[in-house]
Amino acid sequence: MTATTRIPATLIPGDGIGTEITEATCAVLEALEAPFDWDMQVAGMAGVQSAGDPLPAATLDSIRRTKLALKGPLETPVGGGYRSSNVRLREEFKLYANLRPAQTVIPGGRFENINLVLVRENNEGLYMGYEHFIPIDGDPHAVAIATGVNTRQGSRRILEFAFDYAIAKGRKKVTVVHKANIMKALTGIFLETARDLYAQKYKDKIVMDEVIIDACAMKLVMNPWQFDVLVTTNLFGDILSDEIAGLIGGLGMAPGANIGEHAAIFEAVHGSAPDIAGRGIANPTALMLAAAMMLDHIGLNDRGDRMRKAIFDTLNVDMIRTGDLGGKASTKDYAAAVVARVKNG
Ligand code: NAI
Repeated sequence: MTATTRIPATLIPGDGIGTEITEATCAVLEALEAPFDWDMQVAGMAGVQSAGDPLPAATLDSIRRTKLALKGPLETPVGGGYRSSNVRLREEFKLYANLRPAQTVIPGGRFENINLVLVRENNEGLYMGYEHFIPIDGDPHAVAIATGVNTRQGSRRILEFAFDYAIAKGRKKVTVVHKANIMKALTGIFLETARDLYAQKYKDKIVMDEVIIDACAMKLVMNPWQFDVLVTTNLFGDILSDEIAGLIGGLGMAPGANIGEHAAIFEAVHGSAPDIAGRGIANPTALMLAAAMMLDHIGLNDRGDRMRKAIFDTLNVDMIRTGDLGGKASTKDYAAAVVARVKNG
């Protein structure tokens, strides 16, 4: 790719703090002269409000065309209401791998030198939405039933992704996280597939170990440095990725990528943060780091590195930080400082 090649990409600012952090992130991308031609689209609550649909056809068409998107958080009603647009996007574009790195950006926190990557299966498990209630004696919600689905093929695909990613990045170990002692079929298939695949294809290339989800959650707090790359099923990955975000200063610092064979969507791990939306105080770092992953993904790693360095220097040299990190900067002030770092080094 030459420096002048333009790259069409879909931009979904999202709900709550989405507009604020997207604006901040786009300002930094612009300073980097990132070659994206944005096609702005809506989803989530913004989709309902402006197009009567949490995932409008125009948004899907746009991603079908660009195969690349940067997405702010999308609100999902709790309990009832529409199904998560995030989950539907992951299904629609078969974005089977959710890559969530957690790396210390601000030294001196509770945990130093964290450098973990969580690979979460994104299309199967208990997220399939196969749920229903059974009414009894006039109580419409007397019994709730959920069915999880994990397949050999889906497990193999995400495990191969994790092993190949770990080897390509020079990582030392892949830890398979499961609950096969209790959910012997649902997560047993994941562990069984991991063991078979490792023996067939990876045993001479990298170390693999196994840990049960509950012990993993405890070990991550006691000694996170024992882990390197973690790979797990959908729901466990959802929970553990928030936990590892906590190791590096909270949700405002954790980026994520949803990757499939035919499209990739980059986002922050956090949600729409309705409690602080519209106040101009959100931390846009997670979305900025997601945009840096997007630059890496299209082969512009040098610009991804420049973005990460500008963020690092803003936080640690200029000491400009948003409130969630103990600072006083607004989203706009922080973004302006990162832009200045990009421009002036
Ligand atoms: P949340 O991640 O939005 O917020 C949790 C806490 O972290 C809040 O106190 C919030 O203020 C804080 N926080 C999150 N991001 C922050 C940031 N960038 N800067 C400073 N503080 C930040 O989780 P919550 O409240 O459970 O979910 C709110 C909505 O977001 C829900 O509708 C949920 O479904 C949706 N959601 C969307 C996601 C996505 O689009 N990928 C992911 C997670 C949740």
